[in-house]
Amino acid sequence: MFSTSLEDLMALKITITSTKGGVGKTTLTANLGGLLTDLGQKVLLVDADVQPTLSSYYPLEQQAERGLSSLITEGVVEGIISRTTIPCLDLILSDDPEGMLQNWILHTPDGRVRLKHLLARFDQDYDFILLDTQGAVGPLQDSAVLAADLLVSPIPPEILSAREFARGTVQMLDRLRPMAFLGAPLGPLRGLIYRMDRTVDARRIAQELCREAYGPSKGAITILDTVIPNTVAYREAATARVPVHRWEPQRQGPTLSARDAMMTLVSELFPHLSDKKLDRESLSAHKETR
Ligand SMILES: Nc1ncnc2c1ncn2[C@@H]1O[C@H](COP(=O)(O)OP(=O)(O)OP(=O)(O)O)[C@@H](O)[C@H]1O
Ligand SMILES: [Mg+2]
Repeated sequence: MFSTSLEDLMALKITITSTKGGVGKTTLTANLGGLLTDLGQKVLLVDADVQPTLSSYYPLEQQAERGLSSLITEGVVEGIISRTTIPCLDLILSDDPEGMLQNWILHTPDGRVRLKHLLARFDQDYDFILLDTQGAVGPLQDSAVLAADLLVSPIPPEILSAREFARGTVQMLDRLRPMAFLGAPLGPLRGLIYRMDRTVDARRIAQELCREAYGPSKGAITILDTVIPNTVAYREAATARVPVHRWEPQRQGPTLSARDAMMTLVSELFPHLSDKKLDRESLSAHKETR
């Protein structure tokens, strides 16, 4: 998908988004970031949710005084990068407990496209920039969507969520598409069937989703073949504050281990990384602490 030489020049910006709350965005962002760093990539996480769940997902080795609000409102790029305890995994904190940033973006003429232009300042420092968003439509979510080269939406496979995805997400894309005139064309969107139980037929859900996507967004949305299962490992790893592929490197039975599921996802999203191997030390380091 992104196998051109472009990735050598700039960080790939991936925004994890959904117009629905509680679908797994933060968990997916944190785990993708953790896995990409263990595959040798330099990753910057951006917490673009007023509720700073991603900001505290991993322990911090060094906490910056400022975060996303300073970046967007003042254009400050120095002193805003926090470092997690995972090497090469950095973070821009959500630092807006009162939700002032939404209003600021709304009332600033270039508000929604500032984040995109400012993140380009980190192109030389990172391979990937992953943005987590809040599960509700708003100016900050718009900013994060417009900053992305690629959008990923986790979709829980109940049919109501699937319909909400098709309706809410298509509406969002259609609304933001005219921003291309301001230099912020929308990236393609990949739907990821997420938290799936073995009883559910993922193919049927995928077909239903594709039928519901219509209008100008039709070609811009595809449903990934990878499916992330619903297992306790994702919650346990969040509690232990470690990437899930380290928490569950293998598993008995037909359901994919978290490591295999996340590796499959990375290979499908970023084929140029599919021959990369996980560093053995990063896996065994965690086993010792369990
Ligand atoms: N694959 C999974 N299997 C089982 N549980 C999961 C999985 N992924 C995430 N969860 C759990 O689902 C819950 C919601 O996840 P998460 O907080 O990532 O969603 P969110 O979309 O970021 O929510 P919000 O919209 O509130 O920001 C959490 O308790 C998380 O531990
Ligand atoms: Mg979240």
